[in-house]
Amino acid sequence: MKILVTGGSGMLGSYTATQAAERGWDISATYSAHEVELPGVKMIQLDLSDPGSTLAAIEQIGPDAIIHTAANAKPDDCELHKDRALANVLSAQNVFSAAERVGAHIVHVSTDLVFDGECNPYKTDDTPGPVNYYALTKLAAEVALFASSATWAIARTSIIFGPRKFPFLASFSDNVIDSLRAGKMVNAFEDQVRAPIPAWNLADVLLELAERQLKGIYHAVCPESCTRLEFAQKVAEVFGLDASLLNPTAMDNVHTPARRPKALVLDTHSTQAALNTRLLGFKEGVLELLNRQDASGKEIL
Ligand SMILES: NC(=O)c1ccc[n+]([C@@H]2O[C@H](COP(=O)([O-])OP(=O)(O)OC[C@H]3O[C@@H](n4cnc5c(N)ncnc54)[C@H](OP(=O)(O)O)[C@@H]3O)[C@@H](O)[C@H]2O)c1
Repeated sequence: MKILVTGGSGMLGSYTATQAAERGWDISATYSAHEVELPGVKMIQLDLSDPGSTLAAIEQIGPDAIIHTAANAKPDDCELHKDRALANVLSAQNVFSAAERVGAHIVHVSTDLVFDGECNPYKTDDTPGPVNYYALTKLAAEVALFASSATWAIARTSIIFGPRKFPFLASFSDNVIDSLRAGKMVNAFEDQVRAPIPAWNLADVLLELAERQLKGIYHAVCPESCTRLEFAQKVAEVFGLDASLLNPTAMDNVHTPARRPKALVLDTHSTQAALNTRLLGFKEGVLELLNRQDASGKEIL
């Protein structure tokens, strides 16, 4: 398999590219601002919002499949800087057009936030209703794909956790572990329900969608939902950290620039039935995390 992963310097892209290389695949990955190296991966600097250089790079690689993880994935930043957030749509359009030109299968990473949380649980064909600008850009990218003549799969995911591969990244589990180890209080929402998935499990899903050229929409999330507080408590328990530093917090008491639904529950039945990769429960994921993260918080290679 010859694969291109966009966002190779990001949390999800770095796992996806690394795991593809471990399978012996021919793997290229892009970065934009953060120049990084990954074992066995050809890294390419590329601003995906530039159509000309994106097409030229993708034509040169000639991938069988493109796994598009790159995006501004910070809802508050997108809300405050809508011009920057629009790059999510432009980049997706550029990647999809180039994929059409070279005949590559597209695996596009989207978000549970395309839904408004009013009608949980959501099936893959339920009608989206984004409540913030980030989610709107992610939905616009999905819609751009519906019109594409390329073959495609959309993987909607939720909170991605795991040990960061680069110091400038931090997943939710990194933040909890770092703070509790430093004896710092962590505010954790007791009323925000999501479906956290380990980066390595999600990467396996994306690679399966690419390898088998599966088509359609998939809900690539943990099959059991939990609050952020419950997730943080599980991390504290498994890592032997002080859970009394977790401060149960209500969403209504914290102002954030981007609105977020209180609960987002995605139905995973059709996704799990289509995949050989098993979606991990968040408790299993946190247990695996313990084996992947050393005492200083770094990934164990
Ligand atoms: N993180 C979550 O909890 C979560 C939840 C649901 C869905 N998602 C989705 O999952 C995907 C991956 O998220 P993540 O957490 O791995 O993101 P991340 O760690 O913030 O990484 C984002 C990646 O996108 C690249 N990028 C951003 N804008 C770019 C541009 N214009 N041109 C080229 N590259 C660009 C970044 O490159 P540089 O850093 O080198 O500039 C980086 O490699 C995103 O599509 C996101 O919407 C994430």
